[in-house]
Amino acid sequence: MNNRQLFLRHVAQTSDAPLALEIVKAAGMYMWDVNGKQYLDLIAGISVCNVGHCHPAVVKAVQEQAQQYMHLLVYGEMVQSPQVAFASLLTAHLPSSLDSVYFTNSGTEAVEGAMKLAKRYTGRTEIIAFERSYHGSTQGSLSILGDEHWRNAYRPLLPDVQHVIYNAWETLDRITTRTACVIAESVQAEGGVIVPQRDWIHALREKCTATGTLLILDEIQCGLGRNGSLWAFEQLGVVPDILLLGKALGGGMPLGAFIASREIMWSLTNNPVLGHITTFGGHPVNCAAGLAGMQALLDEQLVAGVKEKEQLFLQHLQHPAIRAVRSLGLMIAVEMESFAVNKKVIDYCIEKGILTDWFLFAPECMRIAPPLTITPEEIRTACRTICEALDNVS
Ligand SMILES: Cc1ncc(COP(=O)(O)O)c(C=O)c1O
Repeated sequence: MNNRQLFLRHVAQTSDAPLALEIVKAAGMYMWDVNGKQYLDLIAGISVCNVGHCHPAVVKAVQEQAQQYMHLLVYGEMVQSPQVAFASLLTAHLPSSLDSVYFTNSGTEAVEGAMKLAKRYTGRTEIIAFERSYHGSTQGSLSILGDEHWRNAYRPLLPDVQHVIYNAWETLDRITTRTACVIAESVQAEGGVIVPQRDWIHALREKCTATGTLLILDEIQCGLGRNGSLWAFEQLGVVPDILLLGKALGGGMPLGAFIASREIMWSLTNNPVLGHITTFGGHPVNCAAGLAGMQALLDEQLVAGVKEKEQLFLQHLQHPAIRAVRSLGLMIAVEMESFAVNKKVIDYCIEKGILTDWFLFAPECMRIAPPLTITPEEIRTACRTICEALDNVS
């Protein structure tokens, strides 16, 4: 059997139609398959490789840290310099109320930790989440996921969860002194790039403050520069009580985090002690990678170029078959007539060496979320191919 057959036989599958490209190398904006075919990566491993694949500084940090030490002991017991340095860098670039970082292995674990923290800190149980939101695939995150089709098969889920409509004013009435937390994506990603109205998110912030409810903003997909500011909430003008990060946080290695004030985070230390436990969370090699990745993002001033690159995409994504384009920075949804059309366009692009896909709750939309290092020439090439695909399939 060849590798592809072994993959299908022995690697657990979650779909009957995996992409199944066999990639042997990735660098910067590109991946190469086993036959030497090159792919321009328009989705950055779903918003992971913000500084590009295998950034040399990240690779070097991984190699150096692996030679120093890897796993030492469960989370929180040892002073591990990559964790300390990364937590310090992150908090130096966050508002002063977000000064305590709990590192996890993944985005969904950050969500789980944040929900537990909100319950412990407030002594309440109700969680309010939004329709068409995605927060991960473990049972707690699935409980707050905003789409019945995707969560129904796994019931019973967490009790005392309410789903309300994003960007809708009536949402605010549901938040009361019973509510432990409201959890929202700063920009709804899998819903097809839905940006909240500024006055609505301000009112949401105010209602949370008035009722003693913690506001959790999930920037797992949109954080670290993707929207044209280091954090999306900076553009919205609100500060969450708990911020969730993941995906790009590890510079290509698995890493997530929930970040709060030291006062809120302190709830995990007592009654009972060890309020959140992880063996591998904040792994020193992954923190070293994340630190190098964020340092590269800052040193290369990648965030500053995002808005201009977004405009270039918008300028070139012109075709009668495109119904709408929604974007905030380099998080772009290109809406087609249907999933069938979108799928044909995606397949055509992949055939032509441009890697893209669709959104979980907006399958009629093509995802564009490239490494922030994409060049104007690569943007023009990608848009030309997408329009050419539309000429052929629509
Ligand atoms: C907004 C958002 N939150 C949480 C998650 C879960 O992250 P992970 O897949 O690392 O568990 C994702 C993953 O796609 C996401 O997009």
